[in-house]
Amino acid sequence: QLQKKAQLYEVNKAAAKFFYLNLYKNGLSALDYLKQRGLKSNIIKGFGLGYSLNNWDSLLNYLLKLGYEEKIIYEAGLIVPRKDNSGYYDRFRNRIMFPIFDTRGNVIGFGGRVTDEGLPKYLNSPETPIFNKSNTLYGLNIARKNIDEGKIIIVEGYMDVIALNQHGFKNCVATLGTSLTKGHALLLKKYCQEVITSFDGDEAGVNATIRSLDILKEVGLTPKVSILPNNIDPDDFININGKFEFKEQIEKAIGLIDYRLYLAKKSYDPSTSEGKIKYVKELASIIKGIKSPVEREVYIQKVEKEAGVSKESIYLEIYGKKPYKA
Ligand code: UTP
Ligand code: MN
Ligand code: MN
Ligand code: MN
Ligand code: MN
Repeated sequence: QLQKKAQLYEVNKAAAKFFYLNLYKNGLSALDYLKQRGLKSNIIKGFGLGYSLNNWDSLLNYLLKLGYEEKIIYEAGLIVPRKDNSGYYDRFRNRIMFPIFDTRGNVIGFGGRVTDEGLPKYLNSPETPIFNKSNTLYGLNIARKNIDEGKIIIVEGYMDVIALNQHGFKNCVATLGTSLTKGHALLLKKYCQEVITSFDGDEAGVNATIRSLDILKEVGLTPKVSILPNNIDPDDFININGKFEFKEQIEKAIGLIDYRLYLAKKSYDPSTSEGKIKYVKELASIIKGIKSPVEREVYIQKVEKEAGVSKESIYLEIYGKKPYKA
């Protein structure tokens, strides 16, 4: 089994090298695409980005020529069996290739992006004996050596990690198109205490944020949220606004309770009585779940101010009784 894994690492590494060389020899339009997206040569090289050629078997032939067995190439997920069982074809064709590394720097899989509107936008390696998506975080091999104040930033995509790295934020990782798992959270816990989610500013991103916060908290990490504007992701944000603005986003990231209060505020219309009542009730139920009495008091004060409802009625709503008078 150990032998098998070593073979898989090796064939992936050879494939990564092939993709890498292709980018400069045959992938000039792919390279152009990356440059147009703002990536500098050194970062393209640093992340080992590459290009898979626009034909059915160039990787397979290259690896066979180097002496790798078809069986191993298949088990690494690099080729796919033909429907009529007459051999295999390359899984990745005409895509920008993102090698995925484990924390020791082995290539364990790939993501491949189209450079047009083709689907799927990203194609990833399948699960293999060395590649398990729910235990892998893109960029962790770099982030773990660049932990900043005990913090890691978690983003959605490959391009987010790479763009943030280019702008000096090396403490960031991405899940591989899956939602954050407990395995991811436990992995993060080995390297940091606080995790700041900076997911895409769309509905999917909000949902992913809500789910992730609970998982992060569950393993004992301190979760924080950076909220990006509508339909913007960290890559877009930093290219539009620059690194200082992004730094500010990270610094003003909010905690779990504040994020819940924020979502409640967004989902009810406080200009109608009905909306306001629902809003305050929701806030009350959030506050009821806070264990620390001091924290609870702080949030009750906040709600009193923000919703313009007396403290007494907030207490009544939460506990069914009025607060003790000092
Ligand atoms: P996004 O759709 O947010 O893409 O998916 P992105 O990272 O911003 O990519 P660009 O900027 O358009 O190039 C976030 C992540 O979800 C996974 C990938 O890991 C991607 O980086 N994903 C997305 C897939 O695995 N397959 C897909 O078809 C789309
Ligand atoms: Mn997205
Ligand atoms: Mn993007
Ligand atoms: Mn995105
Ligand atoms: Mn820039």
